[in-house]
Amino acid sequence: MIGRLNHVAIAVRDIAKAADVYRKTLGAQVSDTVPQPDHGVSTVFITLPNTKIELLEPLGADSPIARFLERNPDGGIHHICYEVDDIKAARDRLIGQGARVLGSGEPKIGAHGKPVLFLHPKDFCGTLVELEQA
Ligand code: CO
Repeated sequence: MIGRLNHVAIAVRDIAKAADVYRKTLGAQVSDTVPQPDHGVSTVFITLPNTKIELLEPLGADSPIARFLERNPDGGIHHICYEVDDIKAARDRLIGQGARVLGSGEPKIGAHGKPVLFLHPKDFCGTLVELEQA
């Protein structure tokens, strides 16, 4: 059911510093920082030949990544995103398999302008999984 790896998201405290690591140390193609107030994060997208890395920095008082950064003060991998062809069909199949979908269960428009859902890490090997409709 799942398709391509769309991105790996890394939560960081200082997105400018993290962007410099990817731009200068690793020589990657790095976007400008984009505030995403609807999602409580600022993002930087790093384009690799076969996938993307998404850097996330907390934005606002109750950012969804604030607690993650309390537990991981150096930053860390926050979630991985797989593409699916039909996000509602994927959701219904996963619920049928006993998996937990976070939030209301209705897809939201994600940072790339496409419908996304998040799946409970306890059902997926300890990894927060994002599904994005390709
Ligand atoms: Co993501």
